Amino acid sequence: MADMDSDSVINPGRTEVPISVSRKGVTNFYDYVYTLEEQVRTLQSHRSTMEEKTQQMDGEIRRLKAELERFKMPPLMVGTIQDVLNEGKVIVRNSNGVEFLVASEFSTPLSEKEVGKRVAMSQKNLAVLEVLPDSKDARAKAMELVERPKEDFSMVGGLDKEIQKLHEAVILPLTNPEKFERLGIQPPSGILLHGPPGTGKTLLAKAMAHESKASFIGLVGSELVHKYIGEGAKLVRDMFALAKEKEPAIIFIDEIDAIGTVRTDDTSGGDREVQRTLIQLLAEIDGFRERKNIKLVAATNRIDVMDPALLRPGRFDRIVEIPLPDKSGREKIIKIHTKGMNLHKDVHFFPLVGKTEGLTGADLKSICGEAGMLALREDASKIHQKHFTSALSVFLQSRNAGMDLESEPRDKMLA
Ligand SMILES: Nc1ncnc2c1ncn2[C@@H]1O[C@H](COP(=O)(O)OP(=O)(O)OP(=O)(O)O)[C@@H](O)[C@H]1O
Ligand SMILES: [Mg+2]
Repeated sequence: MADMDSDSVINPGRTEVPISVSRKGVTNFYDYVYTLEEQVRTLQSHRSTMEEKTQQMDGEIRRLKAELERFKMPPLMVGTIQDVLNEGKVIVRNSNGVEFLVASEFSTPLSEKEVGKRVAMSQKNLAVLEVLPDSKDARAKAMELVERPKEDFSMVGGLDKEIQKLHEAVILPLTNPEKFERLGIQPPSGILLHGPPGTGKTLLAKAMAHESKASFIGLVGSELVHKYIGEGAKLVRDMFALAKEKEPAIIFIDEIDAIGTVRTDDTSGGDREVQRTLIQLLAEIDGFRERKNIKLVAATNRIDVMDPALLRPGRFDRIVEIPLPDKSGREKIIKIHTKGMNLHKDVHFFPLVGKTEGLTGADLKSICGEAGMLALREDASKIHQKHFTSALSVFLQSRNAGMDLESEPRDKMLA
């Protein structure tokens, strides 16, 4: 068997593993042993590589098995309890607004207290499996609560006539309700501010809260319908509940047109959601009319599309237009936004005021900020007139460029 003449050399140590080593290659016995050792080392390294791979694959198998288990568990549906009946029966509503009479799988039956709570339901038979905690997170994220905003009327440039109207409609009823009682008149119920973007509507709402020592509770209409889908009506309810806790308070609904546009007959999902939110808002406003310590303020730059239901007496019945600032308004706004700046004595606002016709308070604020940045870049110790002039021309250029790009789609949108 151990025929050294044959082409394949057989292992002399009784294991019958043929080793292919050409006879020419084996010059002597030591060479032969060396070759064998070499092969053993190669095989050993192969083995450890394979062991490592096996370990990796084992890990992957475990991970996939766990994932499979997770997929096998059906997701639970979320609904809201509408009513609790006898014998463990509950009426729940899913996010599409459809109501179901289902069983609750609790040992202790649900009580009336649970009405309005969110629950997790089985997909199979919609049985209520779990009462979920209130979505405080969404409430905290969607609403801005400022107990006493720092903005006041001194930070608003121009708009004196408008401020006077707001004083009578919002501040006086909160600070001196007896004046209205004495005359036997009702203050307006809700105030709608409308005007172009950046004219100071949000600023005014915060300043009103400051001036009347009230809390400011803000909510943005478009976020309610696009970001917190399915929660709109609930957030509206929560906002009024929060206002009740924080009395005196000013509720501010920005971009109210997003929930208060004229209702259409289209009942596609998104539209139904908007309608539910609007209906909830109308119901809350009607229920709140008697609350003297809470004032409702809303803002829009699309008053043309507002649902008349919102503008009816007892709802947003005082409409205040916030226009673009006039010459003296622009001067005051520039003064406000340069108040803390270290200005060189060559700075005169008059030429700037003349060249900023049609710009908003927000635009002027941004130009003042940019002038400061230009001075900083030059490492100047004061801000000069040239910084304002350059900031203005950069602003106008970029605005015109933006208008060229935007004009077509915007016209189409309004058509
Ligand atoms: N009349 C003003 N006086 C002083 N600052 C102003 C004035 N108008 C706007 N600003 C500045 O511009 C910033 C933006 O204004 P604000 O957000 O109040 O505008 P808006 O009318 O609510 O706009 P939008 O319709 O886009 O919500 C304010 O924080 C404020 O600093
Ligand atoms: Mg605003």
